[in-house]
Amino acid sequence: MNNNETAINTRDGANASMWQAASVNNPTTNHTDQEEIYDTLIIGGGITGVTTAYLLQKQGKHCALVEAKNLGFGTTGGTTAHLNTFLDTTYPEIDSDFNEETSSLIAEGTKKIIEMINTNVQELKINADFEFKTAYLFSQDEKETKELQSILTSSQAAGVEVSEAKENDVPIPFEQALRFENQAQFHPLKYILGLAEEFERLGGKIIEQTFIHSTELREEIHYAKSDEFILKAKTIVYATHIPPGINILSLRNAPYRSYVLAVKLNNGEYPDCLAYDMQEPYHYFRSHELDGQKYLIIGGADHKTGHGDPLKAFEDLEDYARKYFDISEITYKWSSQYYVPVDGLPYVGQLPGGDKGIYVATGFSGNGMILGSLSAVLISDLILEKENPYEKLFSPSRLKPIAGFTEFVKENADVAYHFVADRFGTQIINSTHELARNDGKIVEFDGEKLALYKDDAGKVTALNPVCTHAGCIVNWNPTEKTWDCPCHGGRFSVNGHVLTGPPQKGLEPVPINEITAANKNK
Ligand code: FES
Repeated sequence: MNNNETAINTRDGANASMWQAASVNNPTTNHTDQEEIYDTLIIGGGITGVTTAYLLQKQGKHCALVEAKNLGFGTTGGTTAHLNTFLDTTYPEIDSDFNEETSSLIAEGTKKIIEMINTNVQELKINADFEFKTAYLFSQDEKETKELQSILTSSQAAGVEVSEAKENDVPIPFEQALRFENQAQFHPLKYILGLAEEFERLGGKIIEQTFIHSTELREEIHYAKSDEFILKAKTIVYATHIPPGINILSLRNAPYRSYVLAVKLNNGEYPDCLAYDMQEPYHYFRSHELDGQKYLIIGGADHKTGHGDPLKAFEDLEDYARKYFDISEITYKWSSQYYVPVDGLPYVGQLPGGDKGIYVATGFSGNGMILGSLSAVLISDLILEKENPYEKLFSPSRLKPIAGFTEFVKENADVAYHFVADRFGTQIINSTHELARNDGKIVEFDGEKLALYKDDAGKVTALNPVCTHAGCIVNWNPTEKTWDCPCHGGRFSVNGHVLTGPPQKGLEPVPINEITAANKNK
């Protein structure tokens, strides 16, 4: 862990979300007793990890939660925190890809999770700005209207509280709208920090700034290793989206980035609802009052990580927002990562191919607050050996082994990197001349690639752009100032450190300092 970098990165990108920009009380500790054998070690300090830790500790287990950076560093710090009883995977899709009983199970589970979050907020007196809201889903053309009708039928059959509406409560034209009752919103960081505080009060341990790079099972005890120390536990939960390393979940979940603006309006007419259009990708809306200031939060322009153009995504989102709202100020803008599962439902349970007693939870699409919390209930039930209706449905072992992945890894992960900076000295200097400050790019010399970044002061950092997970070439993300991998969503800082798994190792630095020293003032 590089402490300087920790101070800079309070989240997994250069843009702080509105939750992270505001001051929140962080109750965590950073010490551990290495002799202790925990019942469960939870890896990852987002909503899934913190909720799992809290639920297990509350039910008598002794747990530790370890986080590579700080609580809420990843997607929980970047979500827009909508709590819905309908998912990105629609009820008609669940009906046809699974069955109607599954739709009913999802409707019941999502409703219970909103109630659970509300109960936690009330009982623990967490000041998390939790509010029940009505949500509107609206169509804007014939095709969308047809789809909306089918969503209405399937959702009602599944038991969701939904009806046709005459309004959509946002100043955007629509053909038809649906009204979902008892949806909700909250401040995601205040919520997880409140749970974390209670977890510690109950005797749980939180260890931040500690990256677990491997685990080993010996005589029914898992040894989780960081550079600094080893933690011991009877069971392990990876609440890190995709668990690190090479595993089949990387192939069954596609990483996406979503873009968000939090804006102030000239007319002060902030929508008092949650709202969603049906475009591809869809836009999502809500309002939030933060430190006495109201904001409209608009999200959308999603694309696969490492594939789209992040600058254009922000531009498109801003154009769209300005078309319908009279914006006086864009106060916050940020992007965030989520994972879309191949069959539409999350993977939660024992890690396929992993040591017994290692659990994972991933594939939440854009519904991470709800499905992360639902996963926490499922995993804690699995560990406590209680029955849970989602065990079979969400089981990661519903995956079929994929032939060819091992070959892919063999061919790509061990690619020898032969870049010799001296050999390309003049060309590197030319490339760095062309590079603007605070920008990065992949350059190629004789078929060899190099990831170059020039900081504000003109200092250039060069990295081997071959992703350490399975050998894909990373791409520059100019909005978050990160290197993003197009294959499984691994992300790295400008210094090459891992920001988002599954890679376990950082990008290899290429020493070009002497060559570029003369270039410093360019
Ligand atoms: Fe898998 Fe980069 S994240 S190759």
